[in-house]
Amino acid sequence: MKIFLGSVIYFFIILTIIFPFAFADLKSDKQALLDFATAVPHLRKLNWNPASSVCNSWVGVTCNSNRTRVSQLRLPGVGLVGHIPPNTLGKLDALRVLSLRSNVLEGDLPSDITSLPSLTNLFLQHNNFSGGIPTSFSLQLNVLDLSFNSFTGNIPQTLANLTQLIGLSLQNNTLSGPIPDLNHTRIKRLNLSYNHLNGSIPVSLQNFPNSSFIGNSLLCGPPLNPCSPVIRPPSPSPAYIPPPTVPRKRSSKVKLTMGAIIAIAVGGSAVLFLVVLTILCCCLKKKDNGGSSVLKGKAVSSGRGEKPKEEFGSGVQEHEKNKLVFFEGCSYNFDLEDLLRASAEVLGKGSYGTAYKAVLEESTTVVVKRLREVVMGKRDFEQQMENVGRVGQHPNIVPLRAYYYSKDEKLLVYDYIPGGSLSTLLHANRGAGRTPLDWDSRVKIALGTARGISHLHSVGGPKFTHGNIKSTNVLLSQDHDGCISDFGLTPLMNVPATSSRSAGYRAPEVIETRKHTHKSDVYSFGVVLLEMLTGKAPIQSPGRDDMVDLPRWVQSVVREEWTAEVFDVELMRYQNIEEEMVQMLQIGMTCVAKVPDMRPNMEEVVRMIEEIRQSDSENRPSSEENKSKDSNVQTP
Ligand SMILES: *[C@@H]1O[C@H](CO)[C@@H](O)[C@H](O)[C@H]1NC(C)=O
Ligand SMILES: *[C@@H]1O[C@H](CO)[C@@H](O)[C@H](O)[C@H]1NC(C)=O
Ligand SMILES: *[C@@H]1O[C@H](CO)[C@@H](O)[C@H](O)[C@H]1NC(C)=O
Ligand SMILES: *[C@@H]1O[C@H](CO)[C@@H](O)[C@H](O)[C@H]1NC(C)=O
Repeated sequence: MKIFLGSVIYFFIILTIIFPFAFADLKSDKQALLDFATAVPHLRKLNWNPASSVCNSWVGVTCNSNRTRVSQLRLPGVGLVGHIPPNTLGKLDALRVLSLRSNVLEGDLPSDITSLPSLTNLFLQHNNFSGGIPTSFSLQLNVLDLSFNSFTGNIPQTLANLTQLIGLSLQNNTLSGPIPDLNHTRIKRLNLSYNHLNGSIPVSLQNFPNSSFIGNSLLCGPPLNPCSPVIRPPSPSPAYIPPPTVPRKRSSKVKLTMGAIIAIAVGGSAVLFLVVLTILCCCLKKKDNGGSSVLKGKAVSSGRGEKPKEEFGSGVQEHEKNKLVFFEGCSYNFDLEDLLRASAEVLGKGSYGTAYKAVLEESTTVVVKRLREVVMGKRDFEQQMENVGRVGQHPNIVPLRAYYYSKDEKLLVYDYIPGGSLSTLLHANRGAGRTPLDWDSRVKIALGTARGISHLHSVGGPKFTHGNIKSTNVLLSQDHDGCISDFGLTPLMNVPATSSRSAGYRAPEVIETRKHTHKSDVYSFGVVLLEMLTGKAPIQSPGRDDMVDLPRWVQSVVREEWTAEVFDVELMRYQNIEEEMVQMLQIGMTCVAKVPDMRPNMEEVVRMIEEIRQSDSENRPSSEENKSKDSNVQTP
């Protein structure tokens, strides 16, 4: 008898080794999904065939890497109607991402969904959920978007315990009561607009803009109107006029009739059906010729009038969807699929390829650069990317966050810098109505940029050059400091940057030998300085015979002793800066010396610009004094 029992136990042990527990979990995930699909009507077919594998063929379902659990469920705009019962999606306890945005869901949101233990991103915006927001949440939660629903009641205090929370969107609901203090979270994006919230805005949230709070007429304190110290009578009082910039729409426009909703949903699902059909056809076709299916960076539109989206991932191989390589210390939380799904707009076509601004679902914005004509093999490319990632850790450098390499597609992911480029600030909309770039800002940008380049040179070593310094690659950070971008790409390409926009920045020896050095970077930086001082583009009329480049023009004017004529007319309005402008001009001119050895190195350039700044703050008795004090706050 004992022997029999022993062998039964032995048998079970063997069984659990052969079929790990995870097997059962995937099975229960599948069951939970089927229960959900049965309970919630959906206007678009999901093709969730119980006989096929959840991980491979179910629409909207993504599994973890070893395919043992369902980790993401994304069903935006598929026409889901009605209530979500508890014990359906709430059983997917390995779920990280849930997106059911832009559907017609209503009723209470079951709390077993918000409290799924691994949940990091929850997108339920643009439905009609009502009732209170559940109070128990996954402690892993990064992004919670419940905007554009009909939630009522208070914002749960428990949100304050979510130390990982980065984004919270609750706008356009009917929430009331005070705003909880979120100072233990990592909150970066906040929108509580258009609710019925009241009380004063917690100090920890006062740095968010006005537009995070508008449309709550009983809310007060910075950034909104100051809180009144006396209790007001209930009559309308001028102290609480909502900010005037917001045009309020008629409520009749917001309310849709049931007929309209059905029409939208049916129309939307028809469009979706076509899209799905097309995708299916494409996939089948690709399978025929070897299974190298192609994923496009074009979103499946939910049929709710989303903007058409630009493509940038058409060369991404289906089986490599997870191969986005992130650098250490990067806090982004998305994968290549998310990136390809993002809505994108073209920022510009540069020398090395096209740059896109991509807005991801969780409202993270990044810049994706799609490289053309990379000649390097994979190993060398990866090696160079490692270098670029390592060297680019400096406040004055726009960091490379991630890259993707395959035979047909090379993508680089950078932070999005909203301040624009030095080129735009100097040259765009010249003439009436323009806000000129003042002198202090120009010096600050020049100094920041010089520090960034100097860092590249000292950390990257003698072989590591920027290779493409120009004013369109100098970007403005949030605190109006200069940041250098787009470095370290020259070795990847066989042709040097040939666009006419780069032409005026290239040192004479680079034009001859096509070899970049630290000293050729110094030359290009010198041209940027001259551009900043003169307000003139480095080449006036590209392609013409009589074209004169900026360094030669400046040299000729200065030789004739017309120095004052060199400077940008926009700088003439500022008092007591001539001395500094002349010093800066001298720095610029030594940088563009014909002979490389005559040029200073970048470290020396930084020191020279710093010296201008120092003498400036000591003896500049000007009307611009306050301004210059502000911009002097710089830590090396
Ligand atoms: C949303 O739900 C509420 C009640 O829960 C209902 O009064 C309202 O009409 C719904 N709105 C839409 C647009 O269906
Ligand atoms: C949140 O934190 C507070 C204080 O640390 C604690 O009292 C409370 O129970 C926590 N709430 C939850 C839901 O964890
Ligand atoms: C959000 O609410 C505001 C104020 O009621 C309204 O003007 C706006 O149209 C709403 N947005 C949407 C998409 O419903
Ligand atoms: C918050 O949402 C409202 C309404 O959709 C919008 O007008 C406002 O710009 C948003 N604010 C922020 C900071 O995103």
